[in-house]
Amino acid sequence: MNKITDYIYNVGSSSYDVDLFEGQYIVPNGMAYNSYLVLDEKNVLFDGVDSSLKEEWEKNVETVLSGKSLDYLVVSHVEPDHSSSITAIMDKYPNLTIVLNAKAIALIKQFYGVDYTNRAIIVKDGDTLTCGSHEFKFVFAPMVHWPEVMMTYELTEKVLFSADAFGKFGAYDYKEDWACEARRYYFNIVGKYGVQVQAVLKKLANFKINIILGLHGPSLTENIEYYLNLYDIWSSYSVEVDGVFIAYASIYGNTKKAAYLLKDKLEKLGVRVAISDLARSDIAENVEDAFKYGKLVLASPTTDMDVFPVMKEFISHIVSKNYQNRKVGFIENGSWAAQSGKIMKEMLEKCKNIDFCTTTVSIKSALSEKNDAELDFLASELV
Ligand code: FEO
Repeated sequence: MNKITDYIYNVGSSSYDVDLFEGQYIVPNGMAYNSYLVLDEKNVLFDGVDSSLKEEWEKNVETVLSGKSLDYLVVSHVEPDHSSSITAIMDKYPNLTIVLNAKAIALIKQFYGVDYTNRAIIVKDGDTLTCGSHEFKFVFAPMVHWPEVMMTYELTEKVLFSADAFGKFGAYDYKEDWACEARRYYFNIVGKYGVQVQAVLKKLANFKINIILGLHGPSLTENIEYYLNLYDIWSSYSVEVDGVFIAYASIYGNTKKAAYLLKDKLEKLGVRVAISDLARSDIAENVEDAFKYGKLVLASPTTDMDVFPVMKEFISHIVSKNYQNRKVGFIENGSWAAQSGKIMKEMLEKCKNIDFCTTTVSIKSALSEKNDAELDFLASELV
């Protein structure tokens, strides 16, 4: 539990027991599930937590209330990592009114079989709720990254309750660079919905924001422009870092050798390079790096007349997240019928605004002098 301002508390908690967040993302530094309680003439709770943290959350709410009433529960997002505990709090406080939009009330019914219509204030985009000195304005953020998502702007303290936006992997108090785990979170969970994030950023431009309180990650209390600017870069699919990300898969080490030779050549030309073995690294981290850098090189053997499986999975992931506005080169390998370069290109042709390098390095089993020259050409195209 954390006090954020004189009136606002984070009554949520963090967990280090999550094996895979949302069933697929590793969270080695834990995961924060934030829930905020605002004290005033009427007391307002924002969202719940994952059901595994329910008891601690209920205790925190009780402690902060210290005998006062709990009047409103605002539901920003119905994904169960936030909503799976709310039926318990609705049962515990029979006078509690739930504040949410029409899509959210329907989703709650689908997930938990309860219809809160008789205990609800159903809000529309732009509606307000006044609770003493605090005035809350509801800002719909559809498809960031679920349809019912709604942010809330509090006008007195100028606080944005941002739902899942501006969130990151990692426990609330875990000290680390915000951008790294926020970027991995953003591109893997929200990345497909850049257009929708841009739309909500435009709405938020009308508000002065002093504090951002998301449902995951730390409270953002200073340098708000820094976070807004990164979200603008990410959601517009702009290049954050000028450099090349080389993603490779290798069976016997020959494709790996080519990938590292390209890295050396690029670095000698003064280019910033990141490199990753797709079979031995976190795919979510690799997706993040594909979007972080302006250029991408994919290096893969041909297997069963197709692309090596981890490469295929990686390309599918970035395509599904709306990969675009990047320069892409290929290194293929095939001992008798190299196909991977052609197939990788076909997979990416559906993406918007991809500038393909003219040189594809085509290896027959092991690197040749011809390949060395091709790598020089490819490097010169990527500078
Ligand atoms: Fe944190 Fe989209 O749930």
